[in-house]
Amino acid sequence: MTKIPGNVFPRRLDKPLPVASKADGLWIVDSQGNRYLDASGGPILVNVGHGREEIARAIYDQVLQCDYVHGTMFTTPAVENLAQALAAHAPPGIDRFYFLSGGGEAVETAIKLARQIHLENGRPQRVRLISRWKSYHGLSLGALAATGRTTFRVPFAPMLSEVVHIPPPYCLRCSYGLIYPQCKLRCALALDETIQNLGPDTVTAFLAETVSGATIAGVPAPPDYFTLIREICDNYHVLLILDEVLCGFGRTGRWFASEHYDVVPDMVTMGKGLGGGAAALSAVGVQGRHFDAICNGSGGFVHGGTFSHHSVAAAAGLAVVRIFEREQLVERVARLGEILGQKLSARLENHPHVADIRGLGFLWGVEFVKDKGTLQPFPRSEKFIERLWQNIFHLGVVLYRATGLAGIDGDALVIGPPYVVEEEHLDLMVEAIVKGLERTVG
Ligand SMILES: Cc1ncc(COP(=O)(O)O)c(C=O)c1O
Repeated sequence: MTKIPGNVFPRRLDKPLPVASKADGLWIVDSQGNRYLDASGGPILVNVGHGREEIARAIYDQVLQCDYVHGTMFTTPAVENLAQALAAHAPPGIDRFYFLSGGGEAVETAIKLARQIHLENGRPQRVRLISRWKSYHGLSLGALAATGRTTFRVPFAPMLSEVVHIPPPYCLRCSYGLIYPQCKLRCALALDETIQNLGPDTVTAFLAETVSGATIAGVPAPPDYFTLIREICDNYHVLLILDEVLCGFGRTGRWFASEHYDVVPDMVTMGKGLGGGAAALSAVGVQGRHFDAICNGSGGFVHGGTFSHHSVAAAAGLAVVRIFEREQLVERVARLGEILGQKLSARLENHPHVADIRGLGFLWGVEFVKDKGTLQPFPRSEKFIERLWQNIFHLGVVLYRATGLAGIDGDALVIGPPYVVEEEHLDLMVEAIVKGLERTVG
C-alpha cells in the first residue's frame, strides 16, 4: 500500500499526485518545474484558458461589492445579468436559469423540476425517468442513478433510485448489432417502446447528453436521432432534458450542442466551464412556459441550496460569456475543431489499435482496441488507458481518459483543449498521443 502524505483524502489513492504550483493560459507547472499542456482542460472544463485576469477581477470586484446573499432573500445584478446573457445564446424559449455549483447538482435539479412541472400541470402520477446506458450525469446518488456507466454504478446499485436506461446512439458498438441508417434509429425507437412499457402516464422525462462525453468519449448522435427523440417525447408529454454540462457552452463549436441537431429541449443543463474553471458554477435552463407553470402553481419549486444563485460565481460566469463574445471563441472552436479532427485522423487512423476517431468542435474521442478487426477491447486488467495516459503525461501533455466503452472493458482518450489554443498546440497534443502509443504498445 502506498502511503499518501498529508491530511487530504485525495482523489487518487495509488500514488501521491504531483503538486500544481501554477496554471497559466494553456500550461500547468508543477512544484518540480515540469510543464504540462492542458489538452483536456482538466475534465473538459477549462475553456478560456487558465488564470484569466478578467475573471479574477470580476470575482474580486464582486466579493467587495456583495459577496453573499441568500437566494431566497435577495437577487443580485450579477445573477440577473448572467441569466440575461445566457438567454441570448440558449436554445429558443429557454429563458429562465436556476444556478447551482456542480454539474451533477444541475442534473438532479432538472430531474426534480421535470416532476414538479408535471405536478403543476395536473399529472401527479408521472414519477419515472428514462436515461441511457453508457451515459455520464454525475456521481451523487440522484445523478448516479441516471448515469449509465456500469463501473460507477455497481458498488452503489442497491442504493440507487429507479431510472430506466435505454441504449445510446453509439454506432460503433450498436446494442442491436445494426448499421446506421438501415437501423432506422432503433436506439431512438427504444424510447417509444420503453415509454409504452412503463405506461406513458408514469414518465416525467428523458435525459440524454446531446453529445456523449465522459463515458464513451465524444460520440455525436446520428443527425436525425434527436428529431425522432423530440417527436417521441412530444407524443407522450415526456419532457426532454439535454445534459450539456460537458458538451455545451461552446465545446462543440456551437453555443449549445443541441443546435447541431436543430432540437429544442425542455431543459438544458450546463456546468464545467461556465465559471471558466475559476468558480464552481452550473445551471439549469428551462423553457419560459414551464417556468410560468411553476409560477402559476401551488408552491413554487421545492428546491434550493446554500450556494445556489451565488453572486461571485455568477460574476465569474458573466465574465466568461463576455470573453466568449469578444474573442469569438465559439466560432474559433468550430474552425480549429475541424483541423484537430483532421490531424487526429491523419496521424492515428491507421494505427492497429485505434478503432475510431470521432467528435465535434473541441470534443474528440480516440477509442483503442486490442483487435481492430473484431473491435475486441483490451481486458480491463491490462489497464491500457491508464498506462497510455501516464506515458502521455510524462511527455508533458494532460488528456482525459474514458473506460467502460464495452461493458467494463473499453478504452478511450478524450481531447478537449481550452478554446484559446493555437494550431501548433494541436500538433503537440497529437504527436504526444502518437509517441505515448509507441511507448505503450511498441
Ligand atoms: C454530461 C455530464 N453531466 C454531469 C456531469 C457531472 O458534473 P460534476 O462533476 O460537476 O458534478 C458531468 C461531468 O463530467 C458530465 O460530463
